[in-house]
This record gives sequence, C-alpha cells and structure tokens, in this order.
Amino acid sequence: MVGVIVVGAQWGDEGKGKIVDLYAKEAEVIVRFCGGANAGHTVMHGGKKYKFNLLPSGVLHPQKINLLGNGTVIEPEKLLAELSELKAAGITPNLFISPKAHVVLPIHKDIDAAEEEHKQGNAAGTTRRGIGPTYADKAARFGLRFEEFCDEETLHEKLPKLLHLKERMLGIYGKSPSQPAEKTLSQYISYSKECRKYIADASFILNDAISKKKNVLFEGAQATMLDIDHGFYPYCTSSNTTAGGACTGTGVGPTAINEVVGVVKVYTSRVGEGPVPSEIFDSTAEKIRERGGEFGTVTKRPRRIGWLDLVTLRYSKIVNGLTGLAFTRLDTLAGFPKVKICTAYELEGKKITHMPLTSQDFALCTPIYKEFSGWEDLGAGWDKCAGNSLDTLPKNARTYLEFISKELATPIYFVGVGPSREHAIVLKDVFRK
Ligand code: IMP
Repeated sequence: MVGVIVVGAQWGDEGKGKIVDLYAKEAEVIVRFCGGANAGHTVMHGGKKYKFNLLPSGVLHPQKINLLGNGTVIEPEKLLAELSELKAAGITPNLFISPKAHVVLPIHKDIDAAEEEHKQGNAAGTTRRGIGPTYADKAARFGLRFEEFCDEETLHEKLPKLLHLKERMLGIYGKSPSQPAEKTLSQYISYSKECRKYIADASFILNDAISKKKNVLFEGAQATMLDIDHGFYPYCTSSNTTAGGACTGTGVGPTAINEVVGVVKVYTSRVGEGPVPSEIFDSTAEKIRERGGEFGTVTKRPRRIGWLDLVTLRYSKIVNGLTGLAFTRLDTLAGFPKVKICTAYELEGKKITHMPLTSQDFALCTPIYKEFSGWEDLGAGWDKCAGNSLDTLPKNARTYLEFISKELATPIYFVGVGPSREHAIVLKDVFRK
C-alpha cells in the first residue's frame, strides 16, 4: 500500500490538478479530504477539458474509486451539475460520499456574502460558495450532515428549523435570504433523491483498500497558507487543507501515509485578501499574470502575483511534513533577465528566516531577496524537456529549482514545463516506493 497526499504548499492555485491527474493514473482510490466547490481544477481526458469544483480528479476513470471524505462540504446543485456533465460524456463515475460530510445550503452562501460585507477591511475575499458558514454550522453542531440530507424524513424535520435559524442570523446583517425556505426545502428533497445513492462509509472503503495494499491518493484542495489553523488567519478558508487534514478529513490513521507531495508554483499567486510579503505590483507581475492566465477559476478575479517565498515554503515543509516537491509553471517564469526568491523577512529591523510567531508580525514582514539569472523561454522547445531528468532544462532554471530543493532539504519529484499533461519532468514514481 502506498498512501500519497498532494497539497498546495503556498496560497492555492499551484497547479495541483496536473500532479493529481498524473498520480491518479496509478491510484486505485482517490479521495478529497477538505473544502467544497471553492476549489477549481481542470482535467484533460480524451481530448476534452473538464472543469470540476467539487468532484475528485479520478472521476473520469470509472474503474477507480472516488471518495468525498467527511472533511468536505457538499453543494448538491453543483455536485449534480458536475455529474450530469459527466453523464453527457457517457461517463458514470464510481463515486462515494461520506455520511459525515456536511451539506451547503443556499442560505450559507447568503451568509457568506453578508459576513464578508460586514467584515469590510478584514474580509477574506471568499469565493462566496458558503464554505465558511457551512463549516461554522458543522463546528456549532447544528449543520446538516450528508446522512441527514439523504434521509427524507430527517431532512423534512431538520431543514425547516435550520433554515429558520439561519434566516434570523442573516437578519442580524440586515439581509434577507436569496430564496424562500419552502423553495430550498423542495429543492433539497429532490436533490436528496438523486444524491442518496452515493452515500457510503468512505472511511471503511479507504481502510479496506489500504489493508488490501492498494494505492491511495489524497487529493488536497486550497493550500497550506489557507488552512484554518496553519494558514494566515482570518484570511484563510475554513477547513484543514494541510496534510493532517487528509487523515481527519477521511478517517484514516497517519500510518496510512507514505508520501506528502507539496506543489510549488515557481512564483507566488494569491486570490483574496491578506498579507503576501513577496507580492509585486510592477510590469513583471503584469507579465506573469498574463502569461500564466492568473485569474481565479471560481471567481475569475485577477490573482495577486509575487516572487517565490522560501519562508512560507519552510513553514509549509514543517506543517505538512513534505517528502517531495512538485514544481509547476517553470515556463511561465521564463524570459525574464533576473528572477528573485524571497529567502528571509525583515521584521522590526531583524532578519528572520522562519515564520514569525504571530499573524500580526507576519503582516509586518518585508521581503529580503536573493537574485538569480533568468532562463530563456524555449517556446515549443519546452516539449523536449519532458522526461525524467533535469539535464534538459535551461541551466539557470535548474540552478533555481535546485537552490529551493536544497534550502528545503526536500527532493524534487516533478517539474511542470507547460500546460499539457506531457509537459512534465517526473523524477519520482510516488507509488513505487
Ligand atoms: P472560502 O474558502 O471561499 O471561504 O475563501 C477563503 C479564502 O480562501 C479566500 O481568500 C479565497 O480566495 C481563498 N480560496 C478558497 N479556495 C481557493 C482555491 O481553491 N484556490 C485559491 N484560493 C482559494
């Protein structure tokens, strides 16, 4: 058995989909452990592009088991829309959803928007998918579990009460629900009928697969700096997006995990608010944004751009226990005469190389950079870099990657050099230990 976790090592949008897609080929079980329809990933299959917000990346392979773990939050409308897109393509996924996952309601989205508006300067810039309010209900123990949603009698009994309570909460912000409670009830009864066939003991399925020595891929969403505990609070999401979340969000023990692969974009991007010490605002940022198509998949917002930040990566290494690095977007950062890495921060006149103690201090940190010579844009020539060696890369690009790997004392497993699945250097077959 090999259990592999893939996590975003920065602020999200590192290109996890490409690595997950590669590893999913070898995995027999693929499980999502955190988040909901706030994620966005694109998977190419049979020459067609599929964009998922909620479904695990293995759904295009009907022979693989796909799970949405207890740590996820399910928006039924989105789930059914993604499933019907697959159905239209003739694909019936082998999907199971934990009874302990929680269900997003339309009023959670209303509350999300109202809370963001209320927070003003402290707003996280959420995706407005109702993620925070759904996890808040889970923690407060009046949320709607997937098992309750799937049982019509319980749904009839619980949902009107929950909606009533939520409407009163929304009223505190001076807002009204976007749709009447009766409409939500009738919609959710109908969704429940369609969704209930997917309910299954995800933890049992997973542990059974593990005991049969199958390859299991734990597919992370969002990223380390967005983790509710280890990210930059309050500008984060509401679930554990770091490697520990793979265990608590699915119901497996830590002994099931062999590899934790951190996906690192070779520069920084951030969608949403909060401090990003190495953020840049000049024409280089503009160029990277344009070249990299750095606009949010869920919200379409232009992403904030910065140089690679080694301090947050050192932090990411320890909070996730990273065993390997998967670099993405090397081609996007090509063609600049000089590139920079933020190797340390300055905090109140002192140089620090590790994350400061408090969020307040983090917000005060300014970057200290090391400059590197850039590498040429190979254009169509990036195709020739694909394979299983770094030798084919431009020399300066290799120096850049090896510097990061050495600083983090973590080996390079993967380098992405272009948009397609084939544009990849694979140095480690994670499922062959
Ligand atoms: P929420 O998860 O919608 O509550 O948003 C909380 C914060 O996480 C916001 O700053 C979002 O922009 C950010 N966020 C949520 N999901 C993603 C993602 O998949 N990629 C990048 N940022 C995300």
